[in-house]
Amino acid sequence: MVVISTVTMHGNDPLSSKESTGVQWDVEKLILAARNVKHRASVPLSRFRVGAAVLTKSGKIFEGCNTECLIPVLGVCAERNAINHALIHGENDFLAVAVVSDLHAALLPCGTCLQYIQEFARQNGGDILIIAEGSSGDRMVTSLDELFKGGFPPDTSVRDIQESFRWTLE
Ligand code: THU
Repeated sequence: MVVISTVTMHGNDPLSSKESTGVQWDVEKLILAARNVKHRASVPLSRFRVGAAVLTKSGKIFEGCNTECLIPVLGVCAERNAINHALIHGENDFLAVAVVSDLHAALLPCGTCLQYIQEFARQNGGDILIIAEGSSGDRMVTSLDELFKGGFPPDTSVRDIQESFRWTLE
């Protein structure tokens, strides 16, 4: 197994510091949760299965798989489904996201998912660890801040967004 680690966490560091987060967790357990849910992917279009699992600050794990339908834009990635799974259970404070697929190499979350994950990182004021594992067992360990440098500036308000959408209401 090759582990490529580029992680520099800003705020949360769940891999190395139980003290800073107060959460005791096992990276293997998180990856296993992602692996175990992958076969549930509903992928009539791509046939490409992805499993994801998120770890919350309360120490819980929520899984998700990718879901597609005949209207391609309605598909949802495994990572966002895992987050949505947590949200419906009242959890929105994430420490880590694990993602696995049948690709030989580790597959990192797409840009849309990074944008989505960033929303929660911003709300909770910390970085989020991202762990990807390929079918070869190779792993990539990095973080949201490493992967996603852009996005809305942190001080963007709901009002700013509403203003930019005003034309849709007129
Ligand atoms: N997919 C994910 O679920 N996560 C990723 O990180 C990349 C891609 C899904 C979307 C679609 O259902 C399929 O994989 C092919 O792109």
